[in-house]
Amino acid sequence: MSTQATDSFGLSLKQLGKKGHSGHSVRCMQGLPSSQVEADTSRMAIGFYALGSLDILGTVNTSTTDVDRQSWIDWIWEQQSSGVYGTGFKGSPYMIGEQDVKPLQLAADYSEFDTPSLIMTYTALLNLAILRDDFTRLERPGLIKFIKACQREDGSFGALPSGGEADLRPLYCAFAISSMINDWSGVDIDKAIAYIRTCESYEGGYGQTPYGEALGGTTYCALASLALASKSPSVTEHISAQHRATTIRWLSSIQQTEGGFSGRTNKIADTCYCFWCGASLELLGAPDVANEAALASFLEKCQFQWGGICKAPETQPDPYHTYMGLATLSIYNITKGNAGVDPSWNLPSLHVSWNVTDETAEWIRKHLSSKAGQ
Ligand code: FPP
Ligand code: ZN
Repeated sequence: MSTQATDSFGLSLKQLGKKGHSGHSVRCMQGLPSSQVEADTSRMAIGFYALGSLDILGTVNTSTTDVDRQSWIDWIWEQQSSGVYGTGFKGSPYMIGEQDVKPLQLAADYSEFDTPSLIMTYTALLNLAILRDDFTRLERPGLIKFIKACQREDGSFGALPSGGEADLRPLYCAFAISSMINDWSGVDIDKAIAYIRTCESYEGGYGQTPYGEALGGTTYCALASLALASKSPSVTEHISAQHRATTIRWLSSIQQTEGGFSGRTNKIADTCYCFWCGASLELLGAPDVANEAALASFLEKCQFQWGGICKAPETQPDPYHTYMGLATLSIYNITKGNAGVDPSWNLPSLHVSWNVTDETAEWIRKHLSSKAGQ
């Protein structure tokens, strides 16, 4: 984007609607309307978007009660399930009903059709960290077995151990979980990295599966996985200078004139891609390539009058886009050096490859990573 475009957006932003966004997230924790029934299988992930938003806004403890937080912790542990493929978390007890779940019922085998999921396990660990649980109830050996059961012959991962799609999304979750528990024995890292390389697209970026079209979301999954598996904080260990440069160029080409990023070539701007693409640029060590002022200006317009952030201006808010909008702002601190921006836009910094605040990442390091081998 040209400097002219930056100037035309200006750097004057009114207050970020933090109170409204916090209220929206709390309401989402209390239940979604019946129109959202298809999200029932992914309640753990929805919980992460809502709790993650409260974490960024700094209102976990002020906008929810001790009783609520304890009940969420207990519910999350109730989703930890053991069986033939090992131990992981389910997104909700939708197959068996809440009344049949007994806390820590680890001996009970889940059925072949109701196994835990890698994506739900990743979001469960983040939720527990945000709620400052001490992780003593984590079934570590079972979790390693479960991660292993989800890796396929070609190095990819399925979200579920028994069939279904296998691609970069659950692969990222396997990498994130392994780095959080500080135990990679469930992952064949070389095979997984070779799989990531086959997803490199000619445009730059990464497809969801080998030879697929480059997508913002899977580009994040690939780069964050490479960062987590690297000895240094940079991804350059596992990516050629040429592919890095092409990816940066492609990411910059999908920042639209209205300021937001789209998820792929020839698509329109969307709040969630502001995170997937903005975070990818940060992981590539090239955040300055994004037009920050335009990005923040787009997100300002995506705020819903009564709280929450929408995928595009004049649409309806939801917990996913609310979280992704706030997480983007946590990476791109727009208040730095911009006197015209209200200080409310200054949000806590993010651990980009785990996708959680640095403060919560520190909790993970102390209470989850440090207990490896136990
Ligand atoms: C776009 O999906 C986003 C992705 C492909 C990345 C998804 C990442 C994960 C599942 C890893 C876990 C992360 C979280 C936050 C739970 P889309 O369905 O919006 O794609 P579309 O716009 O092409 O439909
Ligand atoms: Zn979106």
